Amino acid sequence: MNTDYSNKATNEEIRARFDRDVERFSNLDTGQATTIDAPITMDLCTEAAKYANPDATQLLDIGCGAGNYTLKMLEKVPNLNCTLNDLSQPMLERARERVSAQTSGSVETIQGDMRGLELPDGQFDIVLAAATLHHLRDDADWEAVFGKIYKLLKPGGSFWISDIVQHDAPLLEALFQQRFADHLEKLGGAELRKKVLDYVAHEDTPRSLNFQLDLMKKGGFRYTEVLHKNGNVAAFGGIK
Ligand SMILES: C[S@@+](CC[C@H](N)C(=O)[O-])C[C@H]1O[C@@H](n2cnc3c(N)ncnc32)[C@H](O)[C@@H]1O
Repeated sequence: MNTDYSNKATNEEIRARFDRDVERFSNLDTGQATTIDAPITMDLCTEAAKYANPDATQLLDIGCGAGNYTLKMLEKVPNLNCTLNDLSQPMLERARERVSAQTSGSVETIQGDMRGLELPDGQFDIVLAAATLHHLRDDADWEAVFGKIYKLLKPGGSFWISDIVQHDAPLLEALFQQRFADHLEKLGGAELRKKVLDYVAHEDTPRSLNFQLDLMKKGGFRYTEVLHKNGNVAAFGGIK
């Protein structure tokens, strides 16, 4: 695995791109259409969270974007107190507006890098992180963020991820990259394919499903579960 991140986008560059891209993340029916099976992964993560924590009152959505995952969660467990984190203030503003209209619970927004989140241990029943952890870089980053999320959860609380994933075997990585490119081309032609693959190459450093499940197990999660995987996108999680 390449561990030289010097050519990768800075948080500032990532934030600036998402600041300009709020609309694309504001469609609850399609989710983020550029990722394969976005509506299915949104549905499965929130359904699993509902089954794991039917009496949940406290939700944290990391890299919440315009709030799609939280909105889907509120359809299943209503009136949650929602804590929304994102690097991008315009994303958070859209998320606050949409989420406030759907819950009688509190809505707190925290603008900033997920690595620096400071919240009380044991506060949350459910933590969601969709299409955002792939911005983490080296092992220390991943270990610290997964460790933080474990601490933020109540005992029995659950953590659900939907994200692009890498593959440990290089030949399979090539296969799934090709399928991702085909998906993008079908969705928006060669132009969309190039645009998305260019920013993925510059901004993203996804890790494999195996790596992330191992991190959860090592970090103390009692159960880990894969909900769905198609091509380079997976939905999975753990219960504390
Ligand atoms: C691809 S969007 C996904 C948004 C939302 N979770 C969804 O599925 O619709 C990724 C989001 O993560 C945010 N983000 C990227 N890096 C982040 C970081 N280090 N800390 C917090 N948020 C981050 C971006 O600003 C963006 O809104």
